[in-house]
Amino acid sequence: MNFASDNWAGITDAVMGALIRANGDFAPAYGNDTVSARVTARFSELFETDVEVHFVATGTAANALSLAAATVPGGLIFCTTEAHVTTDEFGATEFYTNGMKLISVATRAGLMQLEALEATLRRYPKGGRFGHPTLLTVTQATECGTVYPLDHLRALTRQARAAGLTVHMDGARFGNAVAALDATPAELTWKSGVDIMSFGASKNGCLGAEAIIVFGPGRFPHLATLRQRAGHVVSKARFVAAQFEAYLDADNWLKTARHANAMAARLRHGIASSGTARLGWDSEANEVFPIVAKPTIARLKAAGAQFYDWDATSLPENTRLGDDEDLIRLVASFATRPDEVDHFIEVLNT
Ligand SMILES: Cc1ncc(COP(=O)(O)O)c(C=O)c1O
Repeated sequence: MNFASDNWAGITDAVMGALIRANGDFAPAYGNDTVSARVTARFSELFETDVEVHFVATGTAANALSLAAATVPGGLIFCTTEAHVTTDEFGATEFYTNGMKLISVATRAGLMQLEALEATLRRYPKGGRFGHPTLLTVTQATECGTVYPLDHLRALTRQARAAGLTVHMDGARFGNAVAALDATPAELTWKSGVDIMSFGASKNGCLGAEAIIVFGPGRFPHLATLRQRAGHVVSKARFVAAQFEAYLDADNWLKTARHANAMAARLRHGIASSGTARLGWDSEANEVFPIVAKPTIARLKAAGAQFYDWDATSLPENTRLGDDEDLIRLVASFATRPDEVDHFIEVLNT
């Protein structure tokens, strides 16, 4: 019953097989191999436009370097309160951007609210005395397991573009978002005003495969240099490419993401009908946030369930934790089994 994180899951057989096959012979280093070239072409096909692809080792590097690519001295980056870039990355963005400032915008269940963005942009106008509005970053799927429907995403990016901002998407769980929405990767990115994205694959079945995708090659001329200086030009890049190739082949990435989302839905259904716990908010991707009584949490842990307690500040205004309750986070992955979910719900109900 491991619901700690999709980062705790292993690697899919498809990706492992591709790694073994890529290990057969010598190949040019630093991305000059044929698999890397194929993967770049594959990404262009996937996104239905020419893209520039830069592999990096971690999602944190993908975020920080993407945002650094649009660096402006004294620049401001608008993100959500829960954004991984502001909560979990130890100032990586501030570091790589020479101290650009992250400004948090209020959310509902991790989703940036249009009115909140408008109000924040009014507070930080172009030419104002607090810094230069430069970037908007949104996470899809969000840190709260929710996803931006196309119209919501487009309303945000329209507002951002009107304010002259470059738009970045943190797609650490992009597969889960695509699987949850009836929209194409192109519609969810550049067709909706996204300029650059972090495309994550590690959480959804790879060993370590993260990429920065630029919609429109050459738009960020310093990105290649920044990646080199940051130490993210992987020497044996063919192994990263091989992972992506297997990941994207035959919709493998959507199959694993659909499974993870379905396991999360099974958890949500079990929790909502349990009578002993309730959902902090509804979510659509592979993360579930229930409110559970403390003795029940202890019982679940004693039965071998693994999960993290979660910060309750994301709860909607009208939802309060009782003294005896905590908010927890459950994450499903490609490796989550239905019987694990059912066992969790069984323990919850005893
Ligand atoms: C939304 C989001 N973005 C970025 C990251 C960063 O990924 P990494 O741990 O590979 O640096 C994570 C990792 O949990 C994440 O959840």
